Amino acid sequence: MLKGKHIILGISGGIAAYKSVHLLRLLRKAGAEVQVVITPAGKEFITPVTLSSLSGKPVISEFFTANTGQWNSHVDLGLWADAMVIAPATACTLAKMATGVADNMLVTTYLSAKAKVFAAPAMDLDMYRHPSTARNLDTLRADGVTLIEPAEGYLASGLTGKGRMEEPEEIVKVIEAWMDASASLKGKKILVTAGPTHENIDPVRFIGNYSSGKMGYALAGECAARGAEVCLVSGPVSLPVPDGDIRRIEVTSAAEMHAACLREFPGMDAAIMCAAVADYAPAVCSDSKIKRETTGEITLRLVPNPDIAASLGAIKTPEQKLIGFALETDNEHANALSKLRRKNLDFIVLNSLRDPLAGFGKDTNKVTVIAATGEEKSFPAKSKTLVAADIIDFTL
Ligand code: PMT
Repeated sequence: MLKGKHIILGISGGIAAYKSVHLLRLLRKAGAEVQVVITPAGKEFITPVTLSSLSGKPVISEFFTANTGQWNSHVDLGLWADAMVIAPATACTLAKMATGVADNMLVTTYLSAKAKVFAAPAMDLDMYRHPSTARNLDTLRADGVTLIEPAEGYLASGLTGKGRMEEPEEIVKVIEAWMDASASLKGKKILVTAGPTHENIDPVRFIGNYSSGKMGYALAGECAARGAEVCLVSGPVSLPVPDGDIRRIEVTSAAEMHAACLREFPGMDAAIMCAAVADYAPAVCSDSKIKRETTGEITLRLVPNPDIAASLGAIKTPEQKLIGFALETDNEHANALSKLRRKNLDFIVLNSLRDPLAGFGKDTNKVTVIAATGEEKSFPAKSKTLVAADIIDFTL
């Protein structure tokens, strides 16, 4: 999996830096091109000569190369890499990464990296369990960094406990597993719907809901990160398109979302229906703003919108997978099952508005995924990015 891959090996100043030499050798042996970026403190533990001999590239440490004045572009490096692994990641480097303190080449490169980032913490046990380190690790996890947990054992301080950098062989396994997963949807085309729909009452008012689009965009981003070509049909949200091969089609109403999905679905391998589609729209949309002074009391007549998921369920081929969501407040499981059958879905992702960590607008979600075959799996509350990964692992 690592053959021909570009990997940045970031080394910060801890005694475990001696193990980075072995990590570098393993990465090179596996066929990866490795660029070492080392902090000034890292050079106190391991020499650039050793690292450049093994990597076959000059080691980068400073913003400028002293004798030539050449600028080392962290932006170009960040774009070059398929993955960045920071091993060892000291408490100081983790804190700088979590807070964006870009005062050395390693952290600046991290901030510019478009690629997947792994960090293997290494420090004394008390530093590792300090609430400040724990907070920084939580921030980095939420930012999408994969932390390779330190092992328990004998530490440089003479104490024994958790803080030893994980062995290089294990670090390579984690990177390889990620590379494997990141190619798992290569060649697949996936439709994702996200966000709310707005059903206009007049030129200034609409019926809508609280969907922010975060869950759907996380799914689109995760599918793209795994190599899929994604068509994201999005209701009105204020989120940027995630990185990767994602074509966004912006729609406003359920009718527009319905038309876009019917058009796109035949070319897709799967569709994930995460949008919170309004079930009703006003029968008539006024051309001009309705004035309270002249209109007085009004009654809105609402007509049902098309059921987009059910329309796709009616035309799907045996090769296509259709995944729906169920947002419930009562009888959650029974309602989700009934939607799964009624809409002819292959899977349904149940989230409940009764759960404080799930639902609209939150950065987290807590889901149970139910398959048409009867198999099901419940996941604990996690960031929507990690929930997206769980859903994809279970369904695609
Ligand atoms: O966007 P966020 O703020 O991150 O919030 C995420 C979410 C709560 C919106 C998301 O996790 C979620 O639950 N989405 C589905 C919301 C919903 O409309 O659920 P439902 O149970 O009403 O609909 C069931 C399924 O049918 C859904 O897949 C829905 O997309 C689809 N549907 C519903 C109505 C309709 N007219 N057409 C549809 O296709």
